[in-house]
Amino acid sequence: MKAIAINGSPRKNWSTAQLLSSALEGAKAQGAQTELIHLYDLNFKGCISCFNCMKADGSGMWHCALKDDLQPVLDRIMQADALFVGSPVYCGNVTGETRCFLERLAFMNGSYDGPLGPKSGNQIAAAFFFTMNVRAEQAQSAGYPAMFQQNFGLLSSLNGPKEYYLCTNTWQFDDYSKYMNKIFNIDDKRAWRQEQFPKDLQSAYEIGLNLLKR
Ligand SMILES: Cc1cc2nc3c(=O)[nH]c(=O)nc-3n(C[C@H](O)[C@H](O)[C@H](O)COP(=O)(O)O)c2cc1C
Repeated sequence: MKAIAINGSPRKNWSTAQLLSSALEGAKAQGAQTELIHLYDLNFKGCISCFNCMKADGSGMWHCALKDDLQPVLDRIMQADALFVGSPVYCGNVTGETRCFLERLAFMNGSYDGPLGPKSGNQIAAAFFFTMNVRAEQAQSAGYPAMFQQNFGLLSSLNGPKEYYLCTNTWQFDDYSKYMNKIFNIDDKRAWRQEQFPKDLQSAYEIGLNLLKR
């Protein structure tokens, strides 16, 4: 078994990456091999509309023809048993790099002839971890749930069990005093980080564990 995690944050050791590492630990506990990929290490673009994956003879299905650093990653995902995607919310959506990744993944698994799905009927389990500054109630009033659903929905072509997780009120700076911080209640954020974030990590671990249960 193999589980691959895609970190859509530019930061390699912060909340998003830590959640993904926990999910991978859960997968490892089920005997899976694991791989963590940082999207910002890769040189790649979003979909360029070449339509190779949509060719009428089906010869381009399930493979993205765009030759860049993402191409072999997408090929490995198609062979995997689970995919964990993590992204911070940036300006009300996932990061640009995450979005470019999702365009490529969703299109090569899609078809204008109707629903497709992974090659050989593979069922790739999938989880999406969203991290954000706002609290859950602020995410709700800002209309984020529709955005979560839309991005998460792009994993539906993987045909496996799926879930998404919201990690809110994240700790953003090592030292808040070094940055403009008036809109934050730092004591509240610190307490949340100490009390809630370990629970978020545990939830991510359990998601990884459960999605790899075979
Ligand atoms: C460019 C930028 C835009 C952001 N926009 C939002 C936003 O719209 N809503 C929000 O809740 N947090 C926003 N944030 C905060 C991040 O989502 C949050 O700090 C996240 O946990 C960062 O993940 P990381 O620590 O793994 O890098 C933004 C941060 C940056 C750098």
